[in-house]
Amino acid sequence: MATDRSYRQLKNIQDDDFSDEENNAFAPLAGHQQQSSGGGGTTTFRGGKRSQSTVRSCGRGRSTCIVFAALILVLAIAVVSSFARPRCSRDVGSTTNIYTTVAQQTTKPPPINPTPSPWPWNSVRLPTDVIPTSYRIFLHPNLTTYDVTGSVIINAMVQNPTKLLVLHAKNMTLSKVEVLDASKQSIPLDKYVLNEKLEQADIVFVNEIEGEIEICINFTYVLNDGLAGFYRSTYVDENGVTKTIATTQFEASDARAAFPCFDEPGFKATFELNMVREPQYHTLFNMPLVSTTSSSDNLEVDVFEKSLNMSTYLVAFVVSEFENKTSTIRDGLKIGVHAPGRQIDEMDLAFEVLNKTIQFYEDYFGVAYPLPKQDMVAIPDFSAGAMENWGLITYRQVDVLYKEHVTTLQQQQRISIVVTHELAHQWFGNLVTMKWWNDLWLNEGFASYVEYVGTDNWNKDWHMMDQFILYATHTAMAMDCLESSHPISVNVQEPSQIAAVFDAISYDKGASIIRMLEAYLGKEKFLSGLKRYLNKHEYGNADSDDLWKALSNQDDGGEVKKMMDTWTIQQGYPVVTMSRDNEKITISQKQFLLKDGYTPEKKSLWVIPLTYIDDSGKKNSTVIQNDDQGSTIEIASSVKWFKGNLEQAGFYRVNYTENNWNSLSDQLSTDHTVFTPADRASLIDDAHYLARAGMLDYNITLNLGSYIANDDDYVPISTLLARFRYIGVMLQKTGDYLLYKKYMWKILTTWKNKLNWNEKKEDSHLTKFLRVSVLSLAVELGHESAIAEAIVIFNDWKNNNVSFDVNLKYPVYCAAARNGFESDWEFLWDRYQTTKVVSEKTVIMSALGCTTDISILYRYLDSVFDDSVRLQDIGQVIGSVAANPIGARPAWLFLMKNWDTFLQKLGSTSFSFGNIISSCTSSIASNIEYKEAKQFFDDHSDAGSGTREISKALEKMELNVKWLTKNKKTIRKWFFSQIN
Ligand code: BES
Ligand code: ZN
Repeated sequence: MATDRSYRQLKNIQDDDFSDEENNAFAPLAGHQQQSSGGGGTTTFRGGKRSQSTVRSCGRGRSTCIVFAALILVLAIAVVSSFARPRCSRDVGSTTNIYTTVAQQTTKPPPINPTPSPWPWNSVRLPTDVIPTSYRIFLHPNLTTYDVTGSVIINAMVQNPTKLLVLHAKNMTLSKVEVLDASKQSIPLDKYVLNEKLEQADIVFVNEIEGEIEICINFTYVLNDGLAGFYRSTYVDENGVTKTIATTQFEASDARAAFPCFDEPGFKATFELNMVREPQYHTLFNMPLVSTTSSSDNLEVDVFEKSLNMSTYLVAFVVSEFENKTSTIRDGLKIGVHAPGRQIDEMDLAFEVLNKTIQFYEDYFGVAYPLPKQDMVAIPDFSAGAMENWGLITYRQVDVLYKEHVTTLQQQQRISIVVTHELAHQWFGNLVTMKWWNDLWLNEGFASYVEYVGTDNWNKDWHMMDQFILYATHTAMAMDCLESSHPISVNVQEPSQIAAVFDAISYDKGASIIRMLEAYLGKEKFLSGLKRYLNKHEYGNADSDDLWKALSNQDDGGEVKKMMDTWTIQQGYPVVTMSRDNEKITISQKQFLLKDGYTPEKKSLWVIPLTYIDDSGKKNSTVIQNDDQGSTIEIASSVKWFKGNLEQAGFYRVNYTENNWNSLSDQLSTDHTVFTPADRASLIDDAHYLARAGMLDYNITLNLGSYIANDDDYVPISTLLARFRYIGVMLQKTGDYLLYKKYMWKILTTWKNKLNWNEKKEDSHLTKFLRVSVLSLAVELGHESAIAEAIVIFNDWKNNNVSFDVNLKYPVYCAAARNGFESDWEFLWDRYQTTKVVSEKTVIMSALGCTTDISILYRYLDSVFDDSVRLQDIGQVIGSVAANPIGARPAWLFLMKNWDTFLQKLGSTSFSFGNIISSCTSSIASNIEYKEAKQFFDDHSDAGSGTREISKALEKMELNVKWLTKNKKTIRKWFFSQIN
């Protein structure tokens, strides 16, 4: 996802509707502008030596405390006397490193996995008889051999006496398991077994256990390179030396791969960390460092403050040689940024956004940020865009590193969006967490809404709320009109099912319905409800009903629940039909589905906050109930037109009788500025989708958009270009593609002439975006003068070092890759390999896919499995080839041919594989290719986290085939009429 999104971000335009749903799944691609820096008192801190003063005192049971201290002390002085009573890690008292000791347990562990069937526990969810309260984690990752040795001590309460204790453990060997009772006596074990499939350890006792217990487990595993759990990542430092770091990515279900734990969001507990490392490294954790102790064997141990009550998926630690900048804001709250030495200055923008946003959110949410610090780290290899670990946010580098004169405006805005998104999670998600992953939208939907509020806060002139419909609402609506969509609240159990719901529904539909509710309730009510929700559930868990209760301030959730249940429990969304008969408008609703004339088995109805405006400028609103009664409203006979769903704040489409569509169309051609940009975008979006669903004559839709060359606002123009992009993708393997191109060249020329290749100082943020969109699309579609001009700019830059506007990099590089010499492509490829600036690398990655030389495209595809492309970037390379009409088929063949490798490399990470499946199949629109794909997926139905994407891809291809058969003639005729 993150990869594909970055790709679209560069194009600064949505891809065709059928691929933008997932590409967009994680918000805007757009940028940011340079601001004067905040973050007063910023200091650079090199090298990573920190305070070693305060030694935290243990405040719990004596023997536990001794053991805990002993573990650390052993490293320092290697002398610990034997203990009188059984206790966790009792064998620690040797002169060797504790972790070697751990591996050489004298108590013989029961056999692991002695082919036990059935397992003592057979459910993917843990039993709730035992509840963890605190964890002490001890880890020693060896960054040379990649071996990790560790132990964990978990204090827990037995709620119901039981002989069985189940917790999670994945891809590790348990070398010792011991459980102590409240008086620190070892409880006799019958056996323990690892259930690899369920990623659980089952511990069976001889007798029932009860009361307080202490679970002590020693374990070993390998620091993996798969971007999940506790994994390794590498970069080359300023001296050309390859450096390794050890870092974590736990969401959704990989904390269990780093230490045995109760890895469900509902099991909140406190966490302490002791990290053993070589002296050149340092460690970051969710909480501040308390002390560092040296040992005689040239290792050091970092000890951290205990966390607040939190879920396992939010725990994080990073062992690295990164440099940092820190600063202290209001009463001792410490903020810091961390990156490889040569990149630390590129964190300045993110640092500034962090500084500006954290206190803004404290006011906005009405709840103080509760931790003593907030750090942000730029990780060289990272699966998602960023991860909101509490107090230690980790980022993919391109989503956080900003370099003036290199990073584009779209990338800048994206950085602001990502930072404000992850910061929003510190309240929504971290302080209050969903009870279970079925309510993931409470996390992601909320953060995906608030990221706009947070970014808007410091950039009023970016028009973030207008962009919202483009990147969130349109994206979500494009996916939610498919039968293969799913409700916001979705039943998920297995890790791969959980990974699959990090999609446009949880993010963009979630964000859109929150915006709809805010518009309905009013800002004040909305914010006071949020505050109630956060206060009531802080340090705990909540579900959707808890949110409705807080927002309505009623125990049963009142009207809010009644309305919102229809949006979260049901899949899809409605089309509201407003049919006018003189002074009366009759209103009805039905589910909007792309499948022409299809009526789903289950009839769905929504409670819809309907708003509308008429040509007198009068705004009105009403609520449509979900009782199928229909309703009517009065309208003056003098009214020429009316438009429903103001600013597209509602998650529904509106259809009208032909008369009204034609009057709206007339108004757009005479004076489009009567409508706001968001209203124009919403008319265009609705008209296109209604035509695709067979509910509106395509000629009406196309005519409605024919005013567009007079528009100069980014939001409606981007909407139209994205909807036309779909038409282009459908036609790209037909002779009519030429007609399509000619029409597009014609409309693009108008803006191209207005905007040109030179950015003007007075250009607004969105005008700058528009220029990039228009020129990029012109180049991609082979617009001759656009390409010729771009190649002049490219050659001047390449040969004579003449610089050009940084935001125009993508269209310039794309033109050179597309229509330049082979040596130009090679030049870009070399630059891709050698550039030290990640934002530059990312733009080039997209542009390399523009080539029209098929053998180069094959070569580019092949590169994803050699060392030249990082695992995290594979999706972007494939996406850039697949988006090229010439590359679409090669990309799909490449995916089929290498399916097993893709599955093995990407099948368990959340986004990439699904996005690759989507981008490689989205242009399939012929029956013969559909059948081939169907057969392929019948034979390869397991795609791990991408499995859900297969059914979506199949439905989309089927719709494409039907679309082309049905609409080809009409579209051809219309294009013909426009270009002659
Ligand atoms: N919590 C997610 C990261 C994540 C996603 C972890 C999927 C595990 C699986 C994070 O808050 C997120 O949503 N990041 C987005 C960026 C955001 C601006 C939409 C991303 O990764 O692109
Ligand atoms: Zn998020």
